[in-house]
Amino acid sequence: MKLSPAELICRKRDGEALTDDEIEQVVRGIVDGSMSEGQIAAFAMAVFFRGMRRAECAALTGAMTRSGTVLDWSDAGLTGPILDKHSTGGVGDTVSLILAPTVAACGGFVPMISGRALGHTGGTLDKLASIPGYDTVPDLSRFREVVRSAGCAIVGQTSDLAPADRRLYAIRDVTATVESVPLITASILSKKLAAGLDALVMDVKIGSGGLAATPESAAALAESLLDVAARNGLRTVALLTDMTEPLASAVGNSLEVRETIDVLTGQRQGSRLDVVTRALTTELLVMGGLAQSAADATGMIERALASGAAAERFARMVAALGGPKDLLESADRYLARAPVELPVAPERAGVVTAVDARAIGLVVVQLGGGRERADDVIDPAVGLTEVRGVGERVGADRPIAIVHARSRANAETAATALRAAVTVDDDTTARVRAPVLRRMEPFGGRFW
Ligand code: URA
Ligand code: CA
Repeated sequence: MKLSPAELICRKRDGEALTDDEIEQVVRGIVDGSMSEGQIAAFAMAVFFRGMRRAECAALTGAMTRSGTVLDWSDAGLTGPILDKHSTGGVGDTVSLILAPTVAACGGFVPMISGRALGHTGGTLDKLASIPGYDTVPDLSRFREVVRSAGCAIVGQTSDLAPADRRLYAIRDVTATVESVPLITASILSKKLAAGLDALVMDVKIGSGGLAATPESAAALAESLLDVAARNGLRTVALLTDMTEPLASAVGNSLEVRETIDVLTGQRQGSRLDVVTRALTTELLVMGGLAQSAADATGMIERALASGAAAERFARMVAALGGPKDLLESADRYLARAPVELPVAPERAGVVTAVDARAIGLVVVQLGGGRERADDVIDPAVGLTEVRGVGERVGADRPIAIVHARSRANAETAATALRAAVTVDDDTTARVRAPVLRRMEPFGGRFW
């Protein structure tokens, strides 16, 4: 039986579970315009308060996936599995830029659809947009060709993938309905399912820099993502990782690309960023059948990085998407640099005991490196480098970070906010958190 939009909303408002067919009607209404913006907002608010059963969320995810093109790689002549990673938001999180070419160098293919920065979190797409000429929105045929030739392509969401999510997310964003586990689950997974993946690893952040601040809320989100992915036939593992402090030592778009190049060319190793990236890459190589075991994957990743093979894949992707052919050799020629660089000394010497990732993200937004509104223009050059982590010593000779700014005044304002975001103490037993906190598989490790 076909219900009117108001009747569908009414059922959810009263806490009933919608049938698969009713969910299909809602998603069709979102895409064909027969549900008004007000009705979609009311539906989202009803879900926010009443929640969804897992079967409902799985049906919503499936219907949103099928609302547009679902990529099919079976005719692309690829010689390995289609793999991808998703993270629930972060600060100084350049994992994608390192993971994708590393997986490619190990024989996988990564068609990565990434998001833009909003609020305190950075966006992979904005980082890549700081590379001159890099086309972040190629058409589907160029995207497919780059995945084939480089083994990885990181691009933005095209209008043909999961259009239901595009409209629903825009309405959630302005109606205080983003923070709903079933809606987040359907939003993230519909886009990943539309990319035609064989396996996905989820980096679920715990801490002020990501979507979930507490271990409990992060685990609830991860459990929902794992269950709903499995119900839609997508093999997934989740790692819960620390986002109480920034992951990389650079925060800001061109600055993070520089750090990526340093990691890929072996000039920066053993960092928290390196540990998280390797752990996530390991999961993909094992799920994709490219490695026999985690130990096997560890060796493959080490060789891909040490031999320069991962760096070469990154260079190939950048060139194939319109960027410079010699970015890795001549990064200084291409990546913008801000005119003012200000080392920020701490208020007192000591050891860093806490860094508020969210506050650090907001410092970079304030410098012009992020967005307060969806249509804000980003300054790629500004941000922070050498951000010290928990457990590191700081003092007059060791700044807590270096601010990169357009003006002296901007740099001073950022320095004040930065000092407030970093806690320094005498305590030399600062509690350093392991960057990877927990690993979760759907239903005790059984996939189906
Ligand atoms: N990222 C998404 O893509 N969707 C959400 O709902 C939240 C974060
Ligand atoms: Ca992201």
